[in-house]
Amino acid sequence: MNAILILHGPNLNLLGSREPDVYGAMTLEEINMKLVELGKSFGTDVKCVQSNHEGVLIDALHEARGWANGVVFNPGGYTHTSIALRDAIVAIGIPVVEVHLSNVYAREKFRHNSMISAVCRGKVVGFGWNSYLLGLRALLEAE
Ligand code: DQA
Repeated sequence: MNAILILHGPNLNLLGSREPDVYGAMTLEEINMKLVELGKSFGTDVKCVQSNHEGVLIDALHEARGWANGVVFNPGGYTHTSIALRDAIVAIGIPVVEVHLSNVYAREKFRHNSMISAVCRGKVVGFGWNSYLLGLRALLEAE
């Protein structure tokens, strides 16, 4: 794979200061730097996008169809509600890996349900910032 989109959903721009006991102390920028570095070591361009708006996330998924071989996606709170994001993932037809910093299954019941898991290539939860790196690595090493 030579180009991958990392897509971050709502409130993830606040990483580092947002509930650090749940989401860790690393900022989004620091996580993105690690992802770009990992991509580079595989000869793959990694582009990172964050938005707090569902429609912008859908547009980013649609655009990815034109240039990316895969997507690492943390939809934040939209994970649990958005049929529109699920439909977008199906529509673009490129592999999407769902990632979450926290172990959503050890948290409130409403976080146990994901609208997108069934249409994703795979899923990584609970490893903090490393969830993203593991998700990216899985895509980079995919057959
Ligand atoms: C999250 C988990 C979601 O339930 C929550 O709404 C988030 C972050 C995670 O990365 O652990 O915003 O996606």
